[in-house]
Amino acid sequence: MAKTVVFVLMMVISLSFLWIANVQGKTSFIVLGDWGYNSSHQAKVAKAMGEWAEANNARFVLTVGDNFYNEGVSSLTDPLWNTLYRDVYVDPSLNITWYACLGNHDHYWGNAIYQVKAHQTVDWRWYMPNLYYTFEIQDHEGDQVTIEFIVADTENCKSKMQMKWMKKAITRSSADWTIAVGHHPVLSSGKHGSTPTMYSSSSYRKAMEEEKVAFYFSGHDHSLEHISHSNRPTEYVISGSGSKLYDRSEESLQDVVDKGYTSEFFESTPGFVGVTIHNNVANVTFVDKGGNVIYWFLKENPRAAAI
Ligand SMILES: *[C@@H]1O[C@H](CO)[C@@H](O)[C@H](O)[C@H]1NC(C)=O
Ligand SMILES: *[C@@H]1O[C@H](CO)[C@@H](O)[C@H](O)[C@H]1NC(C)=O
Ligand SMILES: *[C@@H]1O[C@H](CO)[C@@H](O)[C@H](O)[C@H]1NC(C)=O
Repeated sequence: MAKTVVFVLMMVISLSFLWIANVQGKTSFIVLGDWGYNSSHQAKVAKAMGEWAEANNARFVLTVGDNFYNEGVSSLTDPLWNTLYRDVYVDPSLNITWYACLGNHDHYWGNAIYQVKAHQTVDWRWYMPNLYYTFEIQDHEGDQVTIEFIVADTENCKSKMQMKWMKKAITRSSADWTIAVGHHPVLSSGKHGSTPTMYSSSSYRKAMEEEKVAFYFSGHDHSLEHISHSNRPTEYVISGSGSKLYDRSEESLQDVVDKGYTSEFFESTPGFVGVTIHNNVANVTFVDKGGNVIYWFLKENPRAAAI
């Protein structure tokens, strides 16, 4: 009798482990950009993020910069920490790590250093060990895949040192998935448009495409956009409408087209991007401030396809 009970209990336990592995054998996260500005949109986007994070069991938020308008934060006790961050992103499902990336606005007056000093102190969620850094995520439970994120400080990409670091980090990455992150878009059909120094053939874009980086996430243009190339592996995703909005620029769009790329989707609407990676497939979902899915696409890991 006792043996049967133990056996049944063991079955139940192992089944529940199996169930957990199945449900959580994927990694979801949110990409949010250009958000630290108290517009009429910010709180609504925050609410929609909370709902998405809960429904998809999001593990972290990835910011793509311009975290605090207009001039970053000027200390660890700057009231903006509360008014633009802690008091806004309050949903319990957003009580997860925020991997932060710096934008041009964060750099004013040398203020960027305070976002680094705030690393896991001002708020436990805030993760920024350096101006630029890498981090690696393992798939839940099964550890089937590793995902490496290379978070650049693109305000400094005029500096040769930063460019070198970015390229080296990309080339060195041996994770199953490699994902690059920066504030300035390599390619964009928004108001600011593409960033020539990052696009030019000897630079960043080429390293990403050669090393089969799956995504380059950025912001800067205040829109949601997906740009791709029919036979190059990297998808360019802009999530820059966490609070403010910019229209599309016909000139920037023409430039993207002239370079041989396609703007698959563009919308100047407040929102964010949610990503779910399951083994070798990612589902990239664009969500507006009302919580509506306005676009999604699937991406197969280009590194896995090569094997
Ligand atoms: C943010 O803006 C809203 C109006 O859009 C206002 O009601 C609120 O007080 C502002 N918050 C702060 C902290 O300034
Ligand atoms: C957020 O998560 C941390 C760490 O898990 C926990 O200590 C804290 O109590 C949570 N905060 C809220 C408001 O739930
Ligand atoms: C991708 O995500 C969207 C939005 O959540 C969903 O509607 C769609 O079914 C997903 N696609 C696949 C193939 O899972």
